[in-house]
Amino acid sequence: MAILEARSLTKRFGAVTAVDGLDLAVGRAEVVGLLGPNGAGKSTTLHMLLGLITPDEGSVTMFGKDLHRNRVEVLSRINFAASYVDLPGTLHVQEVLEVFADLYAVDRPAAKVAALLDLLELGPLRRRKVMELSSGQRTRVQLAKALLNEPDLLILDEPTANLDPDAGDRIRTLLVRLAREEGRAMLITSHNMPEVERMCDRIHFMAEGRIVASGSAAELAASFEADDLEAVFLKVARG
Ligand SMILES: Nc1ncnc2c1ncn2[C@@H]1O[C@H](COP(=O)(O)OP(=O)(O)O)[C@@H](O)[C@H]1O
Ligand SMILES: [Mg+2]
Repeated sequence: MAILEARSLTKRFGAVTAVDGLDLAVGRAEVVGLLGPNGAGKSTTLHMLLGLITPDEGSVTMFGKDLHRNRVEVLSRINFAASYVDLPGTLHVQEVLEVFADLYAVDRPAAKVAALLDLLELGPLRRRKVMELSSGQRTRVQLAKALLNEPDLLILDEPTANLDPDAGDRIRTLLVRLAREEGRAMLITSHNMPEVERMCDRIHFMAEGRIVASGSAAELAASFEADDLEAVFLKVARG
């Protein structure tokens, strides 16, 4: 059974159709990438899947249940990270995680927070205020927060944007491990093509709100007669 199934998702902002009849599925332990130029509709798609904005048309089913009719139950099994989401900046890293652990009603919250501080290499930063952290450090706090409820589906909007190559590589290694070893499904957007090649089992290219090409990195490269995903992206983006 698919963990996530979206059918005919459509979202309009005035005259702009940001997402236009999009179908999407993510299976257990699968990492799916959503690519496309700026403004293609990737973030809007993710925000509909998260119930943050309401689609004009279409449906979202997660774990076999309709998102809008089972909102609390469904959303308790997923989580989200994006660099543009603000965390409470005046709190210490550990306090932020404790606040979210409380919100999520996590079992044995102290042990969970300690384990995630360790996993994301945040131990030495746990008494630092979030607003004083670098973007790479903040990304790690975002991911720790996103893992607190042990989500079956992680939705990640450009999780490694603004990271240096070393920080980005550490995050990718961790995410791949979470998918492979813990079976977590992920839906991820990124403009980093090597990252997508490394992480994603399947990729959908979006342009102007629609999916215009789908497949594994290798399948896409073959069908576009391109050397790599970067070259596929340029071909798709330039029509
Ligand atoms: N809240 C909003 N109000 C008006 N237009 C929006 C809003 N959010 C997104 N859009 C528009 O929808 C389109 C898709 O945006 P977005 O989903 O952010 O693209 P992406 O994440 O692929 O860069 C863009 O044309 C953008 O300007
Ligand atoms: Mg976006």
